[in-house]
Amino acid sequence: MVSRARWQSRFVFILAAVGSAVGLGNIWRFPYLTYKYGGGAFLIPYLIALFVIGFPMLVLEFALGQKIQKAAVDAFASVRKGFAGVAWWALFSGFIVITYYAVVMAWALKYLLSSFKLPWAGNSESYFFSNVLGITDSVSILGGIQWPLLLSLIAVWVAIYFCIFKGVKSVGKVILITMPLPIILLIVLLIRSLTLPGAGSGIFYYLVPNFAALFDPEVWVAAFSQIFFTLTLAFGVMVAYASFNEKTQDVSGNALWTAVINSLISLVSGFVVFATLGFMATAKSVAVSDVVASGPSLAFVVFPEALSLMPWAPLFSVLFFIMLLSLGIDSAFSIVEAIAAVLKDKFGKIRREVIAFWSCLTGLLGGIIYTTGAGLYFLDIIDHFVTNIAILTVGILQCIMIGWVYGPKRLRRYVNTVSNVHLGRWWDICIKYITPLILGALLIFQIYTEFTVPYGGYPTWALVVGWGFVLVPLILAFLIPQSEVLISDKK
Ligand code: PHE
Repeated sequence: MVSRARWQSRFVFILAAVGSAVGLGNIWRFPYLTYKYGGGAFLIPYLIALFVIGFPMLVLEFALGQKIQKAAVDAFASVRKGFAGVAWWALFSGFIVITYYAVVMAWALKYLLSSFKLPWAGNSESYFFSNVLGITDSVSILGGIQWPLLLSLIAVWVAIYFCIFKGVKSVGKVILITMPLPIILLIVLLIRSLTLPGAGSGIFYYLVPNFAALFDPEVWVAAFSQIFFTLTLAFGVMVAYASFNEKTQDVSGNALWTAVINSLISLVSGFVVFATLGFMATAKSVAVSDVVASGPSLAFVVFPEALSLMPWAPLFSVLFFIMLLSLGIDSAFSIVEAIAAVLKDKFGKIRREVIAFWSCLTGLLGGIIYTTGAGLYFLDIIDHFVTNIAILTVGILQCIMIGWVYGPKRLRRYVNTVSNVHLGRWWDICIKYITPLILGALLIFQIYTEFTVPYGGYPTWALVVGWGFVLVPLILAFLIPQSEVLISDKK
């Protein structure tokens, strides 16, 4: 038997897990959700979600992968065959996320290449929507493919391919650079943004809670699904990564490091974004909440504009977009890695390069839709459905799998024999009752809302497409394990 690939050291594993967790979710998604849901009001559910769900679920995924020594599909199937479908669904959903995630990286690459000329100075909003996206008036008008964007997207996928084609070994080397570099850049930007005139008003908006918003379940759904997104939970990634550890490694310590570093980076990038927003609000003499339309465009309108107003603008602009790209790339390849690890478990003989090549090509082709004039609308709809419905459901199913079928006590006993930080019975209670109940309630609320208040005012056909991105992968996911049974019967 071929021995399993291994991380070079525990340090490299933590870097890889943090690398997968920390990404555009921290610098692009977290700030726009915080802005959209009223600043300080979002932070409370976010931190609660981190403790009640983020950390316990991360322990679950690390423990399972490391104990069974298999990536998601085989690890889940070892609990009970039917759970293989849950793992496939998680992987498909991750793959859908990565097709648009790479497009956001392609926007960043386009900005990076223009950083010396700063063509957006003074009109960052119209630059983003017209020049970069070529956005159409509605999701029903596709517009053409934006060729420069497609070229950037190809470049992004080529880079992802070269990061992973040698598997754990090349990943281990790449993250030694792509993890520390953006953290240093983030600190530079933090100092810069906090010293901008007007920064204080932005920070005030960020930190002072608006308690009324806490009564809106939508804010809670957004916070909980953001925790899954940001810690790359329920995508099969953390299970695969942990399966490359020795069985004796400290599970809860690894989970603690990953969760803490990830959320610290989100909180710090929140400071950068909101300080900058405060600066822009002061410059424009408007309220912080009125600086820009909130949503996926936030980072790409606010930052470029603020950067262009700074002394040494091209330098800071280059730094910022390199930071976005280097943070994004290890998250992007982690999902490709998770899929490659499953295929490698199943069909040991296939060459890594081949798996990596086909995954990257499929990801590129799947992302073309987001490079059209209607791309941003599709991104918004598909992100909404996949993260709020598919991922929350996978989260619940993972809790049922360990809480009710495998037995949380059994997994916790393993965690405690290998870890320094021992978990108490609270963990069992979380996985068995608290987490699935909260997620279940939020999911019911979410599905009810989908039918009563159509998301974002989009036309029905577009929302049906959104549902398609939840349901088609679900159906495929449960057909694949069936076909495997048929194949093995024939043998
Ligand atoms: N955790 C990553 C981030 O916050 C996002 C991600 C989700 C990466 C799914 C891979 C798969 O940016």
